[in-house]
Amino acid sequence: MAGTEAARKIIRFGVIGCGLMGKEFASAAARWCHLSDVNFEPRIIAACDANASATSWFEQAVPSVKYVYTDYKDLLENPEVDAVYCAVPHHLHERIYIDIIRAGKHLLGEKPFGIDQEANRQILSEMKARPDVIVRSSSEFPFFPGAMQITKWVNEGRFGRIIEVEAGFWHSSDLDPRKPINWKRRIATNGEYGCMGDLGLHVLHLPMRYGWHPRNVRALLSKVVEERPDGNGGMAPCETWDNAILACDVRTADQSFPMVLSTKRIAPGHANTWFIRIQGTKLSAEFSTKNPKQVASLPYEPGGSQAWHVADVPYQSAYGTITGGIFEFGFSDSILQMWAAFCDEVANGKDGMLQPFHCATPEEAAGSHALFTAALESHATGQTVNVIGG
Ligand SMILES: NC(=O)c1ccc[n+]([C@@H]2O[C@H](COP(=O)([O-])OP(=O)(O)OC[C@H]3O[C@@H](n4cnc5c(N)ncnc54)[C@H](O)[C@@H]3O)[C@@H](O)[C@H]2O)c1
Repeated sequence: MAGTEAARKIIRFGVIGCGLMGKEFASAAARWCHLSDVNFEPRIIAACDANASATSWFEQAVPSVKYVYTDYKDLLENPEVDAVYCAVPHHLHERIYIDIIRAGKHLLGEKPFGIDQEANRQILSEMKARPDVIVRSSSEFPFFPGAMQITKWVNEGRFGRIIEVEAGFWHSSDLDPRKPINWKRRIATNGEYGCMGDLGLHVLHLPMRYGWHPRNVRALLSKVVEERPDGNGGMAPCETWDNAILACDVRTADQSFPMVLSTKRIAPGHANTWFIRIQGTKLSAEFSTKNPKQVASLPYEPGGSQAWHVADVPYQSAYGTITGGIFEFGFSDSILQMWAAFCDEVANGKDGMLQPFHCATPEEAAGSHALFTAALESHATGQTVNVIGG
């Protein structure tokens, strides 16, 4: 019966923050029939945004929405809501995530999971009081089939001794100085981390999952566009870091290697490029959303040739779908797969999940905060700084 409506656990969701990402969830939930053989399904019954025009989209586009609020506390009092997706600006993460956890609702929050390390610590401390509540962070890129292939090779120990790792997430729309200012360019709403807080957990998610915790960091942070149109005919200062390059020293139980992470808002030509490159003595491999269906690999044996193989990866996702293996996987597919992983964990528990790759954990987010906090100090002092608390 798995996969039929009768056998499915329906998880009733409230969405807090009905902007860009809130709508992405609504879209993923609306095409749940894309997934095959899952015994769970989200149903968005409530939507909340401080701005009423944002919730009106939900009222029109999501027929299952029965409740609309402008104050998230009203949504949390609704006993019909089992779980919440919260996608609001970073300065609101701490207060709202804590209230969601206290209300006993499962939470998929957005990165960076608190505007700074202290806010992140407060959220994690609240979680300890409610172990019955499942709390995860959004981070969808590891669900691309090419990224999953790399994770499989890491888990199989195929790389040999790791020589070097490079991972990044690059955008370019901020190259246009005419792009108006928004909350993501202001310290009060986005945080001191700037582009690291915005993009960094995406980059660190797989290294953290592999146990590749940076021990120290030398960071180079840059501001490229100093001011932007304020929407009222004037100009406003851009306060946050545009680009960050973090050179890290990783030590695992049996290896040490350099890892270079970069988060860039201004990387000319890159619209939404997430990538990971691993060089090893037995295997090197690369995946980038720039070429979303290709994985490059270079297996090596001493004395053998050093030839890169570039192969199209089939549409082979964590959760089965109706899509044929010859078709391409894209951003919205990765969002759908991430949502399947979260709902799977809520419905079946961590140990009962239909596949093993769970969403990013708050502890992995805490690791990213430890790195970004050290990176700010490194940039300010010009020194290599130890990463503490990850
Ligand atoms: N996973 C991803 O790929 C991804 C991509 C973009 C953004 N994000 C993250 O998602 C979060 C939201 O970003 P976004 O791009 O959707 O922003 P957005 O500005 O498009 O949407 C945020 C929404 O929150 C609402 N809001 C503000 N204060 C509120 C309050 N007190 N109560 C209820 N709603 C309130 C705003 O009115 C707005 O509609 C951030 O944490 C961001 O880092 C994740």
